[in-house]
Parts: sequence; structure tokens; C-alpha cells
Amino acid sequence: MEKSVLVIGGTGYLGGKVIDDLLRRGVRVSAMVREGSPAKALEAKDVRIVRGDLTRAITLLPVLKDMDAVISTAIGYSQRKKGDSLQSVDDAGNRNLVDAIKQSSVKRFVFTSILTADKAVNVPHFHQKKLIEDYMDEKGISYVSLRPGAFLDQNPARDQLAISLKQGKIKAIGSDSAKWTYILTEDLARYLATAAIDETIPPGKIDIGMTEPLNAEMIAQFATEYTGKPVKVSTTSWFVMNTMFSFIGFFKPFMKDMKNMFVYFLSGDYVADTSLQKKYFGDVPTVKDSLFRYFEQIGLKEKQ
Ligand SMILES: NC(=O)c1ccc[n+]([C@@H]2O[C@H](COP(=O)([O-])OP(=O)(O)OC[C@H]3O[C@@H](n4cnc5c(N)ncnc54)[C@H](OP(=O)(O)O)[C@@H]3O)[C@@H](O)[C@H]2O)c1
Repeated sequence: MEKSVLVIGGTGYLGGKVIDDLLRRGVRVSAMVREGSPAKALEAKDVRIVRGDLTRAITLLPVLKDMDAVISTAIGYSQRKKGDSLQSVDDAGNRNLVDAIKQSSVKRFVFTSILTADKAVNVPHFHQKKLIEDYMDEKGISYVSLRPGAFLDQNPARDQLAISLKQGKIKAIGSDSAKWTYILTEDLARYLATAAIDETIPPGKIDIGMTEPLNAEMIAQFATEYTGKPVKVSTTSWFVMNTMFSFIGFFKPFMKDMKNMFVYFLSGDYVADTSLQKKYFGDVPTVKDSLFRYFEQIGLKEKQ
């Protein structure tokens, strides 16, 4: 019998890809969508819409009824609506969800965490993921937590790397040689879907990335190979970036979190151990294959 999977965060960038992946596999997909958030595009794909909100605990138990598995990609720190925050959604909201799963008959929960969430104590939106993993352990719920590196592709509306690549130059923050792990969201979406339906994957935390970490120089070199035209890197000094983050952080407090995130990236600790990824999901995507797929997706002109 087909499995029933509930996706929380399905109106977002990654969640939409998770839904498409599940639908391609013939899974019955439900999406928990907040009141007032658009659901027409999902309905048109035959996704069952259930209304619920992580910050409203009372709405959660009913939406979990009859679900074989639940995948959450939801976050509040991207602040899509007034009142969304790390505290209201990522902390309190996720705790509400864990409590509801504990009371429900749901057997598999797949959580979207962040790579090395346990080490990044000074990056609040990373550390928050670890706090929720700890809470799940404390409550004794069975979960698979995928811990991806930085998304190589971002929502097209704000994909700065894509814009820069098309101009033949990319910007590095603080260093053009510091490396960290990236992943294409289409690969992450496939792993999230697989983790929800493949019961042979045991509970636990799985780092997600490419075969090796990347730096700006490597992205430029592969883009040069792909386009046949030189792609240059310009590096903005950390002093300038630090000043900019501090200034904007005065008006937008989340910028302080972003500043700490870049400091952490530059430390060299944001690197995946992909051995479990390989074991459960097969060959880890290589840097070249991932970058070339990304270049194709953003419409970068390939050399003839
Ligand atoms: N970007 C990266 O480089 C990166 C790296 C590692 C991990 N991640 C993780 O990847 C995940 C997906 O990110 P994304 O880019 O897809 O985020 P996104 O596009 O901002 O989507 C966020 C989703 O969460 C939903 N949501 C927000 N508050 C909610 C609430 N109270 N109740 C229910 N749903 C709520 C939103 O629904 P509405 O439509 O109602 O707003 C939306 O569907 C996140 O968990 C993030 O931490 C990202």
C-alpha cells in the first residue's frame, strides 16, 4: 500500500522539492500549510492540504493522524511572516511538533537540521537545530536528522551566486580559499524523501554534502571550465564585512547571526563526513557534477 507522508514547510524552497520528489515516487503526500499561506499550487499537484501551525500546538495532533511519516523543512528564522522568529517557530514551534509526534502513532520523523549543529554554539540558527535534536532524544522519539551543508542553489529570487556567475565574477567573503560543505537542494530533497519511506535507514544524524568541501576559487575554476570564459574571484576583506554586518545588524538583529555564521564558515569546521550519506543514499555527489548541474539550472551559458 502507498505510504502517507506529511510535509511541513512544503510552501518553502526546499519543502516544495521534497513534495515533488515524493509525488514522483507515487507517495500520498499531505502538506501542513499555515492559515493564510497559499496552497493552490500544491493542490494543483494533488497534494492534500491540512491547515496547521507549529506555533499553535492545538493544531498539530489532528494533522498527524494516519501519517506513516512526517518530514519537516520549516523554519521561522527566514521570517516569511510577521511574528516568525527563531524563538517562536524553530524553538517553541518545533518543541510543539515533537510533543505532538510523541502522542501520535507516527513512526518516522525526518528533521532538516544543519551540518555540525552541535559544534556551532555561537551561531544561534545552527545551534537551535541541536537543541531540537536534544529535545527529541529527551522525549524518546525516533527520528532521522539530516544535517546538510550550505545550499549551493538558493531561491532564484535571491541567488546572488547565480547573478555573479552570469557576470563572470564571484565574490568571496573574508577569504577565497576557506572551504566548507555545500549541497544541491534537489539532492537533499531526494535524501529527505528517501529517509521518510525507507525503513531500513535507522534513526540518527546524517551529515549531507558533496564529496569534498568547496571554496570560491574552486567554484570560479569549474565555472571557467563550463563556460570556456574566465570567471574571476574578488574577495571582500573580513574587516569590511564585519563593519557592514555590524551596521546592518543594528536595524536587523538577524544579521548578527549571519555574521557569526560566516565567522564559523571561515573556521574550516563546517565540513561534512559523508560516510553515512554514502551508506544510506548511495554515491555522494561530486563537486564537478553538482556544480555543472547548478550551472545548467541557472542557465549559465555552456561553451560550445
Ligand atoms: N539555506 C541553506 O543554506 C540551508 C543550509 C542547511 C540547512 N537549511 C535548512 O533547510 C530548511 C529549508 O529551508 P528553506 O530555504 O526551504 O526555507 P523557506 O523557503 O524559508 O521555507 C520555510 C517554510 O517553513 C514554513 N513555516 C514557517 N513558519 C511556520 C509555522 N509556524 N508553522 C508551519 N510552517 C511554517 C513556511 O511556510 P509559509 O509559506 O506559511 O511561510 C515555509 O513553507 C530549513 O530547515 C533550513 O534550516 C538551509
